[in-house]
Amino acid sequence: MRPTLTPYPNVDSARHDRESSPWFIDLAGAWDLRLWANPDAVSRRAVGRDAPKPKKWRSVQVPGNWTVQGLGDDPHYTNVQMPWSLRPPEVPSDNTTGVYRRTITIPSSWRERRIVVHIGGAESVHAVFVNGVFVGYGTDSRLPSEYEITPHVVEGTNILAIVVPRYSAQSYVEDQDQWWMAGLHREVFLESRGRVGIDRLHVDADWDAQRGFATVTARATVGIDSRAGQEFASGWHVRSWVETLDGHRLGESITTRVPHRHRTPYVFTGHQVCETWDVPDVRPWSAENPHLYRLVCELVDPDGTTAEVVVQRIGFRRVEILDGLVCVNGQPITFTGVNRHDHHPDRGKAVTLEDMRNDIVAMKRANINAVRTSHYPNDHRFYDLCDEYGLYVIDEANIESHAFNTSLCHDPTFRSTWLERTSRMVDRDRNHPSIVMWSLGNESGFGEIHEACAALVRAMDSTRLLHYEGAVFHAGWPAGGRGVTDVVCPMYAPVSAIDDYARSDAGTRPLILCEYSHAMGNSNGGLAQYWDVIDSHRRLQGGFIWEWKDHGIRQTTSDGHERFAYGGQFGDVPNDGNFVADGLMSPECRPHPAIQEVAWVHRPVTVRTHGTALRMSNRQSFRDLSWLVGAWEITVDGHVRASGTFDVEVAPLSSVDVDVPRGPSMSDGEVLLTVRWTTRDATSTPGAPSWCPPGHLVAWDQVVLHPASERVLPDAAHIEGPDVVGELIGVPSLNLWRAATDNDGFKLMPDLAERIGVGGRALWRWLDLGLPTRDPETIVRHEHRSYRDTAQSVVHEHRVSVPEDLRDLPRIGVVFELPEGFDRLRWYGRGPLENMPDRNAAAMLGIWEAEPDELPYIVPQEFGLRTDCRWMEVIRSSNGRTVRIEALHGVGLHMSAVPYRDCDLFDAADITELVRADGLVVHIDTAHRGVGTASCGPDVDPSHIIGAGEYRFAYRLSLID
Ligand code: GAL
Repeated sequence: MRPTLTPYPNVDSARHDRESSPWFIDLAGAWDLRLWANPDAVSRRAVGRDAPKPKKWRSVQVPGNWTVQGLGDDPHYTNVQMPWSLRPPEVPSDNTTGVYRRTITIPSSWRERRIVVHIGGAESVHAVFVNGVFVGYGTDSRLPSEYEITPHVVEGTNILAIVVPRYSAQSYVEDQDQWWMAGLHREVFLESRGRVGIDRLHVDADWDAQRGFATVTARATVGIDSRAGQEFASGWHVRSWVETLDGHRLGESITTRVPHRHRTPYVFTGHQVCETWDVPDVRPWSAENPHLYRLVCELVDPDGTTAEVVVQRIGFRRVEILDGLVCVNGQPITFTGVNRHDHHPDRGKAVTLEDMRNDIVAMKRANINAVRTSHYPNDHRFYDLCDEYGLYVIDEANIESHAFNTSLCHDPTFRSTWLERTSRMVDRDRNHPSIVMWSLGNESGFGEIHEACAALVRAMDSTRLLHYEGAVFHAGWPAGGRGVTDVVCPMYAPVSAIDDYARSDAGTRPLILCEYSHAMGNSNGGLAQYWDVIDSHRRLQGGFIWEWKDHGIRQTTSDGHERFAYGGQFGDVPNDGNFVADGLMSPECRPHPAIQEVAWVHRPVTVRTHGTALRMSNRQSFRDLSWLVGAWEITVDGHVRASGTFDVEVAPLSSVDVDVPRGPSMSDGEVLLTVRWTTRDATSTPGAPSWCPPGHLVAWDQVVLHPASERVLPDAAHIEGPDVVGELIGVPSLNLWRAATDNDGFKLMPDLAERIGVGGRALWRWLDLGLPTRDPETIVRHEHRSYRDTAQSVVHEHRVSVPEDLRDLPRIGVVFELPEGFDRLRWYGRGPLENMPDRNAAAMLGIWEAEPDELPYIVPQEFGLRTDCRWMEVIRSSNGRTVRIEALHGVGLHMSAVPYRDCDLFDAADITELVRADGLVVHIDTAHRGVGTASCGPDVDPSHIIGAGEYRFAYRLSLID
């Protein structure tokens, strides 16, 4: 295995994309594919030189998963369990096997050169035939395999056939929580290498922050094809230098003679050159400032002619533990990370460069600075993008033996695959500055094999840290698994546990949550609590939210409706249902509302009151605030009364106090100071790609300068004439139910919680109480009175008593419906996006306006709430008719107006089953349970559980024509 490098004939062409190399041929596009029931059924002719009968062959796209290309062999979703009940290494006899075929044309210009076929990844395993000759096989579905096919090809037309069985013994160590797919899901290309050529280039680009010094170590391995009977002559050289991306050379070039004395094998060191040199005028790489350079390696033949050139983009940086903290370039960093799987709703695992770029741009916009490549190495171009845009990466080996968690890691039959999977990852990816840790895999127990992998990786690459969650899970946080993980990296630990770890002296390693805040459906409750604790302990260095994207697959049902399918919706049995839909983003990369909270907890600058001043804290490790424009405004009851900008410099990892801006009289109404930081330019690092336009909102905070006063209930008035409000909406009825979220309980998989040991339980209690259908008036004591205070308005007062045995209800409020045509909302409350009582730290109080939300989640459930609304107006924009709701008792009430009833949301398994209301369903709640993350992690914090006691609330409903 080697880093993925393209050879070029000269330096000029090497500065361009690989397509400009005459020695690269992309094999993406249409291939022929035929499926057999299992590998033994594949006919010899299918992989042979002669064309098989065309009838049964289909044309498919490569890269691609045949499981999403309409061939009738569908995706299958399981989490921990295997899709069959056999024991390792047994494989089901029903094991669809595809043969991919296409012609490849070898140009005459490749004569006298070595020819290599690169297969980026095939699920599950693959075997390669060229012109009917077997040339090799590969067994890691997420790393490339390369085959030299020189002796098997002729100039002109040749046949390449690749056999891909869907499952194999390797599936037991690829038991990640994702769809089982199949096929050639990564790129396939041909490369021509010189008879003498650079086979491998390993680069370490170091930055000594104390001395401001950049050093590069480049190790080039020269390969030769001795089959032609040629001897490797003396006089070959490698000339290397570092240059800027626009080709400006930094320092001198280094020329080194390639050792050639392989005839004295005992002392021969290989055809390898290794040089270390200092590079002047360099700026270091970090995720904040991703400065990149180009290392050029030119292979020069004994006559002094350039034989070939390879280039590698590099970034100078040093990763180490200093004083118990993960540091980059001498500074501690905080991981504002996310776990990412390859996923596309139509292409499955076959993500394109643009798909990867879209993910990364969306991450940068949410202030995400790190990615864990859960749970396998990605396409090599993903790391290029992380280098360019600036993301720290935990690169994870393709190992998860979850169903056989504690056995396979001790099984000698699987030993070599563990070592291969880990070390090949390091071999391929080590040149990327973005990678700061190697992960030994996921959920695969803890055994001697991990110690062996760790030792191998440390010996191969001492410039990075090691990460393995299984070690701390099985051996304990403070001292467990020190040999295999440099960080304590638990998953789904509650806030109290990480707080305790940070406070105790027991462990000396930094703690980084490798997974937390499970984003399944309406979720990510309590995120701000995590960050309050992370921010207050230096040894807590952030975490990686689970996970980036829902893995829904676009599917058209037999009656023509479209949905994003989850486990079971392809008839796949056994399955783990919608546990596969647990992302911050939709399958199409549209953010779910929680992204607002995510971007906020990750914001690079915070503003808080500090005594009588405002304290601005720069949480970044390397950048000051000059890439941002800071603006403030003071609002009174939501209306802007004063505004201005900040001219303040705050050094990285430090704070500055400034005066609170002056506004209008602060004794009347609710006075809020809102501070927003937006991007000054489209990019903050010269040369780095832009991930947002200027003016993109990066950080924000809100400070209460004068709190809202309690409203006073008006007196009832004696009003003649019709009750126009009542005529429109009737009487709001008491409501205790919400369409259960994925965190309340797995409504579609009642047995899942039992099976995998996670999942919310509240739903089952609520169902026992009969909440969805029972009249709530028979459940709690409810007093209600209403009276008119003007001709156009009615005041409602409610008093609800919740006895001790009914604590922890979904909500306490009322609901009513509005007829068709109401299509806009304005509110003074938290926004702009949906927010929940335990996920609203990011949601600023303001006057917002929007259309009613559409269901953002794959499985229908509660959505659309806006907490702490002082008022909300529901507007029919065709004629301006408006229903206004004003909170009267207390400061604000939680409100929503969505086009679905709770019962219909709860009854539906997906959007195709969901019944839409004619108009809008409006909720007004005085209490609403938090969402927590119980689908895989801690449930709602007790402060967001609805306790027993008396709840009083009041509001005015007015009709404005
Ligand atoms: C973790 C696992 C992930 C995923 C997650 C729940 O245990 O590492 O792959 O299954 O739980 O969605």
